[in-house]
Amino acid sequence: MKVSVKVPATSANIGPGFDSLGMALPLYNTVTIEETVLPGTGVDINIISDGIALDEFAMEHIPSDENSIVYKAVELLYNSIGQTPSELKITIKSGIPIARGLGSSASVIVGALIAANELLGKPADDLALLSIACELEGHPDNITPAFVGGLVLSSQEEDGSVAYQKLYWPSDWAITVCIPDFELSTDIARSVLPKEVPLKDAVFNAQRMGMFVQAVHTKDKELMKMALKDKLHQPYRIKLIQGLDEIMDAFKHEENVLGCVISGAGSSILVISEKNALDKIQSTVKEIWSGLNIKCDIKTLNVESNGAQIVEE
Ligand code: HSE
Repeated sequence: MKVSVKVPATSANIGPGFDSLGMALPLYNTVTIEETVLPGTGVDINIISDGIALDEFAMEHIPSDENSIVYKAVELLYNSIGQTPSELKITIKSGIPIARGLGSSASVIVGALIAANELLGKPADDLALLSIACELEGHPDNITPAFVGGLVLSSQEEDGSVAYQKLYWPSDWAITVCIPDFELSTDIARSVLPKEVPLKDAVFNAQRMGMFVQAVHTKDKELMKMALKDKLHQPYRIKLIQGLDEIMDAFKHEENVLGCVISGAGSSILVISEKNALDKIQSTVKEIWSGLNIKCDIKTLNVESNGAQIVEE
């Protein structure tokens, strides 16, 4: 038996929602798990490109041995019903840029869990899978939208359960993802964060988070401009993303740009705008990064409303 699951990319944090907000985007990884007939073959993991460059760093990021996050996800699920995974061929068709803050690791965790659960005859329900996936990833903001699609606010509670609420993105607001040619691992991007933050910074983010929810609900552009700010992670990570401070400065007073934030832990940058600002965004980002010898891919994308889905491969 063989099961394939197609999972969208995600952009997490979106300004004030560190480890809480995320949106699914229409770039995909497909995880296929196949039971092989030969006994003793163990678990074989292969990664193939679906239109993205898979360099050495990218391959190291999704190891194909038992250190792989995909293997760990499958193993956790098998162990939860008293079994050990073996004789499985896992193939990841990778169309989400790796280590760019676009949820590639969340997508393979989600894809592997859903596929393994299907192969095992569905011992776990969706909420149980979501909880295992968040435990593995360490935070729910990429996992939840990868799983359920859309723009999602989520939390993992002390008992491990995941609570989430879908929000609705105003269709007039364009989302431009600027993907540089350099990677940034989440481990490094989290290592620069302090263990504790000043109370005033926590209050600042709590205020912006409330504004964000109200702004998408009422489609209030001026409120969204105030909301797309952060003091919990961006100030510490800005030095890890070359050109980010200049790009943020360039858009600060641009009337039709609502905000410019780090996508997840970086290295990509997300620019939220009205649709008439798209040319300006492209040219500004290209000019600043090319001045620093950085190549980039810039895509304006809609929110993907579908989450992970079982597909025919
Ligand atoms: N919220 C996470 C972070 C997303 O910013 O570190 C990256 O996985």
